[in-house]
Amino acid sequence: MRIGILTGGGDCPGLNATIRGLVLAGAKKYGYEFIGFLDGWAGPLENRTMPLDVDTVRDIYDEGGTLLGSSRTNPLKDPSSVDKIKANLKAGRIDVLVAIGGDDTLGVATRLAEMDVKTVGVPKTIDNDLSATDFTPGFDTAVTIATEAVDRLHTTARSHHRTLVAEVMGRHSGWIALHTGIAGGADYTMLPEQETKLADLCASVQNEYGEGRKNYAIVVVSEGAKLVQEEDLVLQDESRDAFGHVKLGGIGRTVAQLIERETGIETRSVMLGHTQRGGSPTARDRVLSTRYGVFAAEMVHEGKFGQMAAIRGDTMIAVPLVEATTVNKRVGSELFPVLEVLKS
Ligand code: F6P
Repeated sequence: MRIGILTGGGDCPGLNATIRGLVLAGAKKYGYEFIGFLDGWAGPLENRTMPLDVDTVRDIYDEGGTLLGSSRTNPLKDPSSVDKIKANLKAGRIDVLVAIGGDDTLGVATRLAEMDVKTVGVPKTIDNDLSATDFTPGFDTAVTIATEAVDRLHTTARSHHRTLVAEVMGRHSGWIALHTGIAGGADYTMLPEQETKLADLCASVQNEYGEGRKNYAIVVVSEGAKLVQEEDLVLQDESRDAFGHVKLGGIGRTVAQLIERETGIETRSVMLGHTQRGGSPTARDRVLSTRYGVFAAEMVHEGKFGQMAAIRGDTMIAVPLVEATTVNKRVGSELFPVLEVLKS
């Protein structure tokens, strides 16, 4: 059996560990051959490949990024692309295509499965916003990086009696902000799922200043968060990617300016941006990614096509791809009280 693998969408730490788990399990247990498709869906579309075997993947468990490259190429934009992909898979004698990605990449895999391409999905995204699974590779590393950054912001904020606003990624789901806000001891955390009132935010910041108070404040804001009075999301520019997503980013700066204007407290902002996606995965992400890869090999063996590997509790299961890609997983209101008690 010949298996094609691709990694699509925004990269994240853990992709290489997933590829490694899949290739080692597939080759050693079942004698599968593997072909890597380069740069996401551009690979099968343009027939760009690289050989993948046990030796290629042996030592990549701790490497960030993806040795296959990634892109946000969306083959569904052009109706002729699906036929090209099918023809290239046939010419390459590829029996099954394993797509490792987030909602966009796996959305394409879902459509291809409906068109009789044998696909298996494996999740990844720092945003942790894929439905049907508890945790995605990349998330723990992103939270760890963001928490370390926020820990560092505490000391400089304390020295200067400033308020510092840290903007984290996550698109329209606040998982990274929620976890970073809690783990990083933020005085206020802004999520996309919960509109923030400027007066409430400024009151929390002001509470931290005065006699006997710590005289600095830390705010964590998700890039997709909104203030009640602002109708629009803050965007980097007007462009959209191939899947129609706006480019979020900049809310942290806006929030910092508003806090300073309303309270008179010197306030600065930091956009953590792609540092959250870079570098080596945490131990937890290495383990999770490897388990996803090994489980995907079992799914191929059992013919679980049109399905995605998922983790529920500590158990790996296969779920229909469509369950994972129809709606994004967002922070539920049951978690809001946790942030409420942590507010200043
Ligand atoms: O989906 C992962 C992610 O890092 C989001 O958190 C972020 O909004 C987006 O990708 C950024 O995408 P790009 O790297 O294409 O600008």
